Amino acid sequence: MHPPLSLSLSVSMSSSSSSCSASSCQPRGTTSRSPPPPLQPAAEPLLLRSFSKALAKRRAIQLTRATPVPVPGLVDFSSNDYLGLARSPEVAQEFHSRLLAAGAAENGDGSSLVGATGSRLLSGNSTQALELEAYLTDYHSAPSALLFNSGWDANLSLLSTLPQQNGAIIYDAAVHASIHDGIKLGRAKRAVSFRHNDVAHLREVLDSLLLPTASSATPQCETAVVAVSSFYSMDGDVAPLREITRLLADPRYGSPRRAVLVVDEAHSTATMGPHGRGLVAALGLENEVFARLHTFGKGLGAHGAVVLGPKMLRDYLVNYARPLIYSTMMPPHSLVAIRAAYEVLYSQAGVLQARLGALVKVFREAMGVLPHPARLLQSENMIQGIVLPGNANVVALATLIQSRGFDVKPIRSPTVPLGTERVRVCLHAHNTTEEVVAFASAARWALAELARRSSSGNQHEQQQQRQHALSPLTDGGAMQARL
Ligand SMILES: Cc1ncc(COP(=O)(O)O)c(C=O)c1O
Repeated sequence: MHPPLSLSLSVSMSSSSSSCSASSCQPRGTTSRSPPPPLQPAAEPLLLRSFSKALAKRRAIQLTRATPVPVPGLVDFSSNDYLGLARSPEVAQEFHSRLLAAGAAENGDGSSLVGATGSRLLSGNSTQALELEAYLTDYHSAPSALLFNSGWDANLSLLSTLPQQNGAIIYDAAVHASIHDGIKLGRAKRAVSFRHNDVAHLREVLDSLLLPTASSATPQCETAVVAVSSFYSMDGDVAPLREITRLLADPRYGSPRRAVLVVDEAHSTATMGPHGRGLVAALGLENEVFARLHTFGKGLGAHGAVVLGPKMLRDYLVNYARPLIYSTMMPPHSLVAIRAAYEVLYSQAGVLQARLGALVKVFREAMGVLPHPARLLQSENMIQGIVLPGNANVVALATLIQSRGFDVKPIRSPTVPLGTERVRVCLHAHNTTEEVVAFASAARWALAELARRSSSGNQHEQQQQRQHALSPLTDGGAMQARL
């Protein structure tokens, strides 16, 4: 048994008091502590000047990033909690009761629910982690499962280790930043992108890398790893997985297969497939995909990720995946949260997915056709968007919509291609029909308001230009201002 809380506190207090002076070890919250002597201001490191320049560049193109605290009270049209599981009372209840049970079971062996205490390869492993992996193996019909601290870590691990020195990595142009960064860390002989969702282009790239050419009887690469997302969260479109798997099975690429597929199911986890098993499962392609990545931080409302694939892939990642080897394992309470979310997902996925689908229809109908140059993204699922070219324009549009009580975020270029800047609208199973309809009317009002401001701005400009044309002196002044 763990000692009671009061006992462990008094032990640590008394042991610490022996090594601290009264002034340096006052308990928190007391007022008698004398303030430390003032520090001499340190000379500003030169590096900060470079930072300042870099940040000024970002400001100049309206691309500064920040970490704003979500404004309370806004209706959620922005989070990745697509099914509302992060706020689900059922998940919270399941989590609490499982946490209590886990706490009771862990008592006696000295293990903690708070932290894993080390890398998975040292002290961080546990029967709980192995049990969760067995559960996920079963849930997703996979040969093996390996947990990661995040989807980012999992992609970094996969992409930095799978492509071999004599092999290629071929990736959809729209994959996530974590795939790009994993590729940079890897040692593939060739890294080539193919046009987004363009299977014909993928075939061209595969042919050029895996087949002999007119000038060389030896192909450039022995093997290829193809990386795609199942569902692209900026455009709301899905990958043509059937066509891609059919292509990779083409005997021209050899037997045993020289090209394998890795699918990032970050945004299709929970939101697609029976019991939220993802798009690969929805299409029955589990045996055609070499590795699947499911993340728990989006549709499951928790945190962390799992890689599913052959048992030897698991062994290989345990030996070579540096984000796994050199990082503390996720804490036991996260394992409990993931399991709790999955339990609720199993029973509620169908209802929640259907509800989300209905809200998509309501949204698209309520938005209707938008006034040029704005347009609605061509998406049939929970990721929707109002495209309005120009970073400043989408920021202004999002700000106006927020002012009406809705939480939405602008997505600027270069995160999305220039000219397709947008306000991203994430629909959730926890949004009500009334909220969606009210959102659409706020969005239409905001677009009209922007158009009004822009035309009155133009009139003002034209008026100024007319005045300048009448006065050579003011024209000279304007010239100077421009210079
Ligand atoms: C497609 C995709 N893959 C991977 C990740 C990373 O997942 P995580 O947030 O669990 O690190 C994200 C996160 O935004 C993502 O959108």
